[in-house]
Amino acid sequence: EKQGFKHFMLKEIHEQPGVVRASLDAYFNNFGESSESPINLGLPADLYNNLEQIQIVACGTSWHAALIGKYLIEQLAGISTQVHYASEYRYAPSPVTANTLIIGVTQSGETADTLAALAMEKERRQGKEPQYQGQLLGITNRSESSLGDMVPNIISTLAGIEIGVAATKTFTAQLMAFYALALDLAARRQTVSKDTLEKIINGLRQIPKEIEATLETQERLTEQLAHEFAETKDFIFVGRGINFPIALEGALKLKEISYIHAEGYPAGEMKHGPIALLDAKVPVVAIAIPGSVYEKVISNAQEAKARDSRLIGVTPVNDGEAAEIFNDLLPVSDVEELLSPILTVVPLQLLAYHIAARRGLDVDQPRNLAKSVTVE
Ligand code: M6R
Repeated sequence: EKQGFKHFMLKEIHEQPGVVRASLDAYFNNFGESSESPINLGLPADLYNNLEQIQIVACGTSWHAALIGKYLIEQLAGISTQVHYASEYRYAPSPVTANTLIIGVTQSGETADTLAALAMEKERRQGKEPQYQGQLLGITNRSESSLGDMVPNIISTLAGIEIGVAATKTFTAQLMAFYALALDLAARRQTVSKDTLEKIINGLRQIPKEIEATLETQERLTEQLAHEFAETKDFIFVGRGINFPIALEGALKLKEISYIHAEGYPAGEMKHGPIALLDAKVPVVAIAIPGSVYEKVISNAQEAKARDSRLIGVTPVNDGEAAEIFNDLLPVSDVEELLSPILTVVPLQLLAYHIAARRGLDVDQPRNLAKSVTVE
């Protein structure tokens, strides 16, 4: 079943181009003169009406996907969006307006904390208070699940079954759902022009082959790095803007399967404390994508270098400052910053995988973890 791959996780990392293709086919197929939006998520029209605010609840990797979702929804559709750890939200729910959409993101559809947060919101809606009329939406890889039974609206993600405990292709599938949702909202609210919409969708269509190219070059590079870093004790991942959640995700992947201590930070926060951790023994992985924050990330990376950290750059740039600063490069294709997270996560998944495999660990079944966390 592993189709020649040593572990399910590696197989699932390699399935990501197919997941993106399947998502493009399923969601981006509503072109035509009369359509309000080129995106078809099969959601009822009243879900979109008068939407004022979005609250998202999720855990772990799904929470990281939600952070990217927030960025996309706010930047493209202009709807204020908050992302909560489901385990926190259930005991301290945010005030909502009558037109607040609540989204629960869970690949398994069975995560107890996410279900409890949604159950609480459902109960609020069954009460009398007029402020609780907004709808509930689930984003899941298993529509036949407790989540599917609980919420009336579902976006199905199209990853297929994921066996590795570390989420990889389900994360990519969740990102695709958020691109579709954000662009759908933007099209309906006309917050971006038709040209921009078309440009972004055309960019998404190039992503599968860009992931394939990235996989091809990264396999060897990450394996080499894994050899050098297998005994490293601490890792820092930094990114900014839409790639900050990818820094979090890179750190989570490494922690989960290699048991190496790793933290992700927004690069600009390093100087407010975490920079004190840095020395020659603590490598820093920086995601540096040309666009709104590239120069900022490079200058944050320079600050790390001045503390003797070894710097690994996830970047399409291989000349100029990037070539000078980074000790190692994990090159990704040069795509629009807005689309880059689907690519930048790939080398980080591979790096975590190869480090864990090198350490001889049980990559698919890491200690203390389960594929679905059905207890609080
Ligand atoms: O099934 P869910 O998406 O609700 O799971 C949420 C987290 O438990 C999950 O993402 C966990 O963090 C993974 N092991 C990450 O690789």
